[in-house]
Amino acid sequence: MLKNDLLLRTLRGEATERTPVWMMRQAGRYLPDYRKLKEKYSFFERCQRPELAAGITIQPVDQVGVDAAIIFSDILVVPQAMGMEVQMVENKGPILPDPIKQYSDLHKLHRPDVEEKLGYVFDALRLTKKELDGRVPLIGFAGAPWTLLCYMVQGKGSKTFDEAKAFCYTQPETAHALLQMITDTTIAYLKGQVRAGADVVQIFDSWGGLLSPGDFENLSLRYIRQIVAALKEEVLTIIFAKGAWHGLSAMAATGADGLGIDWCHTPESARNWAGPDITLQGNFDPAKLLSPIPVIRKEVTEMLNAFGGRRHIANLGHGILPNVPVDHARAFVDTVKDHQYR
Ligand code: CP3
Repeated sequence: MLKNDLLLRTLRGEATERTPVWMMRQAGRYLPDYRKLKEKYSFFERCQRPELAAGITIQPVDQVGVDAAIIFSDILVVPQAMGMEVQMVENKGPILPDPIKQYSDLHKLHRPDVEEKLGYVFDALRLTKKELDGRVPLIGFAGAPWTLLCYMVQGKGSKTFDEAKAFCYTQPETAHALLQMITDTTIAYLKGQVRAGADVVQIFDSWGGLLSPGDFENLSLRYIRQIVAALKEEVLTIIFAKGAWHGLSAMAATGADGLGIDWCHTPESARNWAGPDITLQGNFDPAKLLSPIPVIRKEVTEMLNAFGGRRHIANLGHGILPNVPVDHARAFVDTVKDHQYR
């Protein structure tokens, strides 16, 4: 039994005593205890050892007071499980030294047995669930197929992912074969996360906003739609497609329970695009957590009032930045918890 199920009730559209709050990328990054673990263990060691991943997952629940935990892992464990090498390079981000460039490269990939290749994530979820002991719900996640394709083809981070786009525009059949392989793997992976105890799953389409509306439908949303359809009966789902404001109404129509909103919307415009029947999650500018605390309090209050206290999960519009002071993150969370709607 969950002692705090505000997040779940809000996703189901029920009225709650207050607005739930968590922060994307809240596990790791800015917390001093996490930084200490970084000195001792490599990134994938932190993901693969359930006791480390569970400990990191729970840190923000204990130290910042969020209403949900999100499992410590990474979206790139999926390409890794499909057979690609992924390196996490300090201050540089992910590197995939042998990216997909043409149809024949798909032979290097396979649809993995997720229990065998990603069982460590399921073990981490089970252990976290046990250690949380019902304090807050546990969120599982995966990258959207388009965002994973970006890394698998470009081989590294990019502001434009132009090589990934060129691949899709010049070799559409290969691109769709790859997107379908990622989609099938992601469905099996998220189902495994649900069996291991995830109460909610979020799909991160961090690079959805790089695509035109037509390409977003063709290269991203049609695969997200398959994932949501496969999971809908089993678990609550949230789609976060950063920058893809034009797609909010189509994303709402997938049957997802929640939509992540970035800070380039007003809450009113996001609601207009998404329609009344879905929970919105967001949308504080992560860089605004670097403001003085009184400014954070004032702007979070304005955000809450603009969302209006119904079908809203307070969150950031993208991941928390590594240089945010912990007391600023706490001010964000406390302002939500103390808020009285006008
Ligand atoms: O709350 C959480 O942070 C849970 C764990 C989590 C990580 N990555 C851990 C991580 C989650 C939810 C992610 C998602 C993720 N990973 C996304 C989607 C969300 C987003 O921010 O857009 C993306 C695009 C990635 C790919 C990725 N992983 C990048 C670009 C980087 C390097 C830059 C960065 O974000 O720090 C990573 C590494 C990574 N993943 C770190 C962490 C804590 C930092 C490396 C480290 O601490 O050693």
